[in-house]
Amino acid sequence: MSVAADHIATVNTAFDVDTVRDQFPALHQEVHGKPLVYLDTAASAQCARPVIDAITAYTSHDHSNVHRGVHALSQRATDAYEQARADVARFLNAPSPENIVYTRGTTEAINLVAQSHGRTNLGPGDEVLISWMEHHANIVPWQQICEQTGATLKVARIDERGVLDIAHFESLLNERTRIVGLVHVSNALGTVNPIQELTALAHRVGAVVVVDGAQATPHMALDVQALDCDFYALSGHKMYGPTGIGALYGKRDLLAAMPPWQGGGDMILAVSFEKTIYNDVPFKFEAGTPNIAGAVGLGAACRFLSDLGLEAIAAHERALLDYAMDVLAADDLRIIGTAPDKGGVLSFVMDDVHPHDIGTIVDSEGVAIRTGHHCAMPVMEFFDVPATSRASFGVYTTRADIDRLKVALDRVREMFG
Ligand code: ALA
Repeated sequence: MSVAADHIATVNTAFDVDTVRDQFPALHQEVHGKPLVYLDTAASAQCARPVIDAITAYTSHDHSNVHRGVHALSQRATDAYEQARADVARFLNAPSPENIVYTRGTTEAINLVAQSHGRTNLGPGDEVLISWMEHHANIVPWQQICEQTGATLKVARIDERGVLDIAHFESLLNERTRIVGLVHVSNALGTVNPIQELTALAHRVGAVVVVDGAQATPHMALDVQALDCDFYALSGHKMYGPTGIGALYGKRDLLAAMPPWQGGGDMILAVSFEKTIYNDVPFKFEAGTPNIAGAVGLGAACRFLSDLGLEAIAAHERALLDYAMDVLAADDLRIIGTAPDKGGVLSFVMDDVHPHDIGTIVDSEGVAIRTGHHCAMPVMEFFDVPATSRASFGVYTTRADIDRLKVALDRVREMFG
C-alpha cells in the first residue's frame, strides 16, 4: 500500500457556496414551516451528495464482506474498503494506508489508544496530561486507564478566552509523563491548539501525543507528519460523511508494538486453542466485519473536502465567524470562547435565558443550533455556566443563515421580555 506524496488538494482558494449547498439535499427542506437553517455542523455535519452516492453505489452493487471471499463482489468490497483507507491516509498526509485504523469514530479511536498503548505503557507513578478544554472523549478514557494502571491524570489550565496556558502545560510535563491527549479544535469553544508546538514540547520528555481531531479535520488542511503527533483521531460524521465510522492515524512503530484491544475474525493470521497469531497493522485492530459502507462514505468525504480545498474552507468559515461575532454582538449576549485562533464555532449565553429555551425557540424559527454542555462539562465549570448555546458553521453556511439566527434570537428576547 502506498500514498502519493502530492497529498492534500489545497489548490482551490475559494468556492461558490450556492454550488456547495446544492450538494447537500438535507438543507433544502422546511422545519416548522420555515426554510431550514442548519447551524449544528459541529455536532454532525450534513452528508454531502458524493458521500451519499458512494454509499448507495457500494450498497447497491458491491456489498459483500471484505478480506474473506475470492468471489467478485467480495473483491470489489475489499477494493472499495482499502481504497477508502488510502483516501484517509492521503487526506492526513499519513505515510501509508497502514497507518490508518478504522474505528467507529474519534471516541473509539482514543479508547483504542488508551486500552492498547496505555494499558501496555502506563503504571503507578506515570502521568497522562490533558487540557481543561477536552471533550469527554479525551478525558474519560484516560481516567479509566489511569484507574486501571495506577497512573495519574494531570490537567493543563486554560485562560478566560479559552486559550491553553502553554506555560502551565509545559510545567506539568516531566519524565513521568507518558501520554499527552490534546484536542486540535475545541468543540465547545472553537479554540485551535498549536499542536505542532505542543507535540514538540511533549516529545522533549518522551511522551506520546494523541490528538482529538474531530473538529479539525473538516475545517483545515492537515499533515500529521508535519504535526509529528503520534496518534490522530477523526470522525466521519464531522466531515460531511456518515456516523459510526472514523479512523485512528498512528505512527507505524507504535501501532506495531501495540497489542490488539478486541479479538475476533479478520484480526488474526492463525488461531488454535493453544495460540493465536495476530494479523499485521492495521488489521489486528479491526476485529469482526467492519462498517464497510461507512468506510466507503468516509473515503468519499475525504475526497469531497480535498476537492473543495481545505484552505478555501478555512477562509470561508473564518469570514463567517467574524461576521457572526459582529452581527450577534449585544449587551445581553456573552460569547464563551474568544481565542484569537478559532474555528467556526460560536458558543454563547444570554442574560436570564436558559440555553435550552433558546434552542427550542430558535428551532421554532427553523434554526438548528446545539444547546447543552457539549460533552465538555469541565469547560462549562470553568466558565461558570450550566450550558451554552452553540452555532457552528460549515462549508454550506451563509451570512443569510447567521442573519436568520439573529432574527431568531430577537424572537427569544421578545418572548423573555
Ligand atoms: N461532540 C459533538 C458536539 O460537539 C457531539 O456536538
